[in-house]
Amino acid sequence: MVAISASAPGKIILFGEHAVVYGQPAIAAPLTTVQVTAAAEPGPPGSGLVIHAADLGQTVVAAQAAPDDPFFDALVHPAQLVLEHLRAPMPDLRLTVRSTIPVASGLGSGAALAAAIMRALAAALGAPLSDEALNPLVYEVEKRHHGTPSGIDNTVIVYARPVYFVRGTAPQTFSVARPFTLLVADSGQSSPTRLTVADVRRLHDADPPRLDALFARIGEIARAARRAIEAGTLDSLGPLMDENHALLRELTVSSDLLDRLCQTARDAGARGAKLSGGGRGGTIIALVDEPDAAPVTAALRQAGAVRVLSTRIQPSP
Ligand code: PMV
Repeated sequence: MVAISASAPGKIILFGEHAVVYGQPAIAAPLTTVQVTAAAEPGPPGSGLVIHAADLGQTVVAAQAAPDDPFFDALVHPAQLVLEHLRAPMPDLRLTVRSTIPVASGLGSGAALAAAIMRALAAALGAPLSDEALNPLVYEVEKRHHGTPSGIDNTVIVYARPVYFVRGTAPQTFSVARPFTLLVADSGQSSPTRLTVADVRRLHDADPPRLDALFARIGEIARAARRAIEAGTLDSLGPLMDENHALLRELTVSSDLLDRLCQTARDAGARGAKLSGGGRGGTIIALVDEPDAAPVTAALRQAGAVRVLSTRIQPSP
């Protein structure tokens, strides 16, 4: 067994959240400015699998953790899934995980944690996982967190490149004709995706034709956004983000703070802005021209964002 380390990035959803649960396309991109790393090293004989979450100062012995332990889902469950997948016995191994992804902010920290743990563990056992093998395993972890996830979060985090995603189909990569910059502003309010997804489900069940029409329009926006990114016609992206946000408001998953952050970004010069992810908290994203990044960032902080990250969506190598 060799010492090994692995990582996984955060993620943002650019277009199509919620509607993606109902079969519409969505676009997501990795957020590579933040990531989880997992380092595996051999442990003393008989130590079993020990997982150390360095940022939290928590250490868990996998064989002794009960499913209702606070860190079971995040740390132990991913490791168990890999051992089952590889039909491997509990190894004597120490895994140290570190994360710079803010938790409960809709940036994919849970899926990235699982992906990094799984990659490091499998590689340390001499059986590195391909992205195709890893993706369904991370999806299993997502199911525990979210109930009925569409699969977009695990997919973009595992493949670590922009994806066009339709539930139940293989993820499609697409070309980025011209790079563009997104600011990612964290509202500081945590909001479980499980709850907003359930509320949208209730709305849908109460009035299927109205909700299906909203989802269909969001799907059209995601398709139009893909065409614009592929053609490099970025002028249309901002208005598409604004319209997608308005539709998410109609789905009741925005909040006063998210609306205010989006409007602040637009007023400060962003080309468009929308909430990203489950909503009612978490993050908003804003499309900016490079010279406007600093003033829009300052305005977002002023308006209550607890942190503002920047990411550049680049043409694939
Ligand atoms: O995990 P979040 O909060 O970034 O959002 C996931 C996106 C949803 O479309 C709301 C749910 C899903 O499973 O796709």
